[in-house]
Amino acid sequence: MKTSSGERSLKAYLSEQRDVIDAALERFLPDASSPSRKLHEAMRHSVFSGGKRLRPVLALTTYELAGGEGDAVLAPACATELIHTYSLIHDDLPAMDDDDTRRGRPTCHRAFGEATAILAGDALLTLAFEIVACEERLAPERRLSVVAELAAANGLAGMVGGQVADMEGERTAVTLEAVEFIHLNKTARPLRAAVLVGALAAGAPPDSILALGVFGEKMGLAFQIADDLLDVTGSEEEMGKAVGKDEGRGKLTYPAAVGVSGAAARARELMEKALAALDVFGDRAWALREIARFVVERRN
Ligand code: IPE
Ligand code: IPE
Ligand code: MG
Ligand code: MG
Ligand code: MG
Repeated sequence: MKTSSGERSLKAYLSEQRDVIDAALERFLPDASSPSRKLHEAMRHSVFSGGKRLRPVLALTTYELAGGEGDAVLAPACATELIHTYSLIHDDLPAMDDDDTRRGRPTCHRAFGEATAILAGDALLTLAFEIVACEERLAPERRLSVVAELAAANGLAGMVGGQVADMEGERTAVTLEAVEFIHLNKTARPLRAAVLVGALAAGAPPDSILALGVFGEKMGLAFQIADDLLDVTGSEEEMGKAVGKDEGRGKLTYPAAVGVSGAAARARELMEKALAALDVFGDRAWALREIARFVVERRN
């Protein structure tokens, strides 16, 4: 993939989509004149700090794939990034992973204090649901399906549940079953939701939703294995966050369960399953295929 035209076109595609998303996030976030200036600055500190924007790119891509037109999808797409950023702010807190660096800058609590970081996360989470609920260019039933999907994927039976298992699992015996439960909930469900909300916003038929759901889940599982691997093999400079921390905290990770090469093999296997789920879309799914490959080959 390194020298293929796939990589070049994906790079251009990602960078174009990121610009569109950043401009939309700029519009959705409250402006500098809003009250609680410190809270507002803390929200912007974490949102505009060089994330890959993978989740909103996925939403834009599936919207187009499902025949959606115009930019009404920007609200659901940005909602996925706001929720993701909130989850990162809270994940970094001293009570959780206790990290000092995120996206190449001090973590939110390091820059603004713990109370403001907690509240900035809360404000981003609630803003996500507000912008979807208020997107009048989406039919009310589509807004509702997007809200329901985002809520389900990020709550008890999703990201929050996975984060609880991640914390409770620290320094306990590593089993593949425990790692897979954590990965499925804390990462794959929110990523699957990002894939699905674009399709839901476009009114995709149930068979497309089913196929995209399988793609999103397998790709999401591969994504977290890659994240665990990069904690072992990556550099802080490339990642924009500390590396080598999972072992120190006794985290239940894929490399801890099956070793680095076993984890890499599992990520490739999941990527193949993700790609197979896209067969029904033929060539139209080229961007999703490139993104799935990027997920396991990335260095950041
Ligand atoms: C990091 O997500 C947290 C995980 C779910 C592993 P990303 O690697 O997508 O982080 P950003 O958004 O690019 O900073
Ligand atoms: C976090 O997983 C997943 C979230 C739900 C935020 P990690 O704790 O491994 O993410 P990083 O490595 O800090 O980005
Ligand atoms: Mg964590
Ligand atoms: Mg963490
Ligand atoms: Mg990690």
